[in-house]
Amino acid sequence: MLGIKLFKNAIKHTNGIRSISTFRSTEPLFASFQRRSEGSTQSFGETNNYQNNYNNNNNNNNNSFMNNDGYNSKSNNGFDNFGNKKREINWDDELKNMAPIRKRLIDLPTEDQQETMDFIKEFEISIKKENNFYLPKPIDTIESVPFQSTIKNFLSKKFEKPTPVQSLGWPIALSGSDMLGISKTGSGKTLSFILPAIEHILAQPRQSYYPGPSVLVVAPTRELANQINQEAEQYLRLVNIEIATIYGGAPRRSQQLQLSRRPKIVVGTPGRIIDFMESGDLSLKNISFLVVDEADRLMEMGFEQQIDGIFNSIRPDRQVLYWSATWPKKVSSFAEKHIRTPIRLQIGSSQLTANKNISQKFKIVPTDADKVDALMDTLGEIYSADEKAQTLIFTMTKKGADTLKHYIQSNGDNVRIDTLHGDVDQNRRERIVQDFKNKRLDIVVATDVASRGLDIKGISHVINFSLPSDCETYVHRIGRTGRAGALGTSHSILSNNSLDDMELVGDLTNLLQRSEQEVPSEFLDINAIRNRQNMKGGNGGGRNGGGGRNGGGRNGGGNRGGNRGGNYGGRRY
Ligand SMILES: Nc1ncnc2c1ncn2[C@@H]1O[C@H](COP(=O)(O)OP(=O)(O)OP(=O)(O)O)[C@@H](O)[C@H]1O
Ligand SMILES: [Mg+2]
Repeated sequence: MLGIKLFKNAIKHTNGIRSISTFRSTEPLFASFQRRSEGSTQSFGETNNYQNNYNNNNNNNNNSFMNNDGYNSKSNNGFDNFGNKKREINWDDELKNMAPIRKRLIDLPTEDQQETMDFIKEFEISIKKENNFYLPKPIDTIESVPFQSTIKNFLSKKFEKPTPVQSLGWPIALSGSDMLGISKTGSGKTLSFILPAIEHILAQPRQSYYPGPSVLVVAPTRELANQINQEAEQYLRLVNIEIATIYGGAPRRSQQLQLSRRPKIVVGTPGRIIDFMESGDLSLKNISFLVVDEADRLMEMGFEQQIDGIFNSIRPDRQVLYWSATWPKKVSSFAEKHIRTPIRLQIGSSQLTANKNISQKFKIVPTDADKVDALMDTLGEIYSADEKAQTLIFTMTKKGADTLKHYIQSNGDNVRIDTLHGDVDQNRRERIVQDFKNKRLDIVVATDVASRGLDIKGISHVINFSLPSDCETYVHRIGRTGRAGALGTSHSILSNNSLDDMELVGDLTNLLQRSEQEVPSEFLDINAIRNRQNMKGGNGGGRNGGGGRNGGGRNGGGNRGGNRGGNYGGRRY
């Protein structure tokens, strides 16, 4: 028995009546969604799927979505289990026999130009650069892009003008500088690095032999690697450049075949990149243009060794580009290890901000057990307003995602729904993304495998059924809607009795204010209570950082510092 069906919102669908019901959840059902709350038993048999998904290094099945990637720990070819070269490469010697890299592909001005300053002001851009580096002029029309004419023509058919991050990201990348590009979700970062990568490839001196690929793009998830490949291919085919896309879960053989076709550009996830380095199918020695997409995610705990292994196998005079919508301080020191005084291009505030085109809504329910009802109400509201809506729902666990899918399916008619997580076979994962893109699915319930980078235009709503561990992940998750200037809506369901959810409220309050969103009055009450508790020392010295908007200050430091200390030092990671 799943509960009482109350069919509130019957939705007329072209091929029948569809409805989403509300219901009263029963204990066994609820148990599947139970997640991180301290003191509660983890009844779904996974302690933390986020962790499992991301950091499952050494198993060789398809369960995790990223850096296991079919990578097995053969220790041949001078690599250890993490892809670190056992013997250091003597780059001084190596470089003597390698062609120099041609990096600077455009001329740079010899002083700051008014036009650039005006552009920076108009789009609230902040730039950190070396004193003797003068920024190139922003490229603000497609006609003025300094790319191959076939690419320019193609761009002009697709887009009206460059996005702000492209306007400055393109010329900075073409100037040959290392760079860190930060810009909101859905703002066109992929093309910000792909098109300069193509120009870079075409500018390199011809060699009498194939020295290996010139460009490597590292991405945190298989789906994202695939998507970058799909976007890049549209341009690469115009200039006849081969690409190989390598990620776990998919058969090695077809990827090996791609590598044997002498690609100039390789896109991949860290585990599979290292796997092919180990097997000798891929040499990174000649990489001269390295992109790390979702760089903050890849610089986080759990990936350092793999990222080190990749960087250490690449010639040191390379150009490095980091890209993301978020750049938390905690990743800076590791990230800086591999990049030389990068130009930091940030579109919008340097503090964590969500895309302002996303309307962020919240429901606060008394207990975790009430979340399912709130979710079904939310779905009812969404689909009674628009039967064609596409919704991405995030849960914390794989099992929670499956249970939720079955629940929604059995409480609605004709709902086209599926799940996307690390236990889903890779073939199916790819099909699900494709079906969602082609509007053959209404709802996808996913873990954080889907939180970063995915560009699915039809997603009109994102629901956080379980809140993520940190506000950066929240920003990426809700960023699956409201892309390329479109509007979107996110709904997050918090429970009053979840310490995790309540801890996040301080950070969310700041984020909402910075993102020009209304702060729910309940948040202000929760913050006030938490601040009082912290002042009394009632909360173990203040997990919430002891600060807060309500205290009147700029609270980023206080709340975030406190939360993060708790999250990263403790049970969540
Ligand atoms: N100049 C442009 N004008 C309009 N749309 C564009 C332009 N450039 C790219 N796009 C489109 O915008 C969408 C989002 O781009 P992209 O996926 O690169 O965003 P992103 O900034 O990488 O987001 P995320 O942080 O979520 O990864 C894509 O569908 C892309 O084709
Ligand atoms: Mg992206």
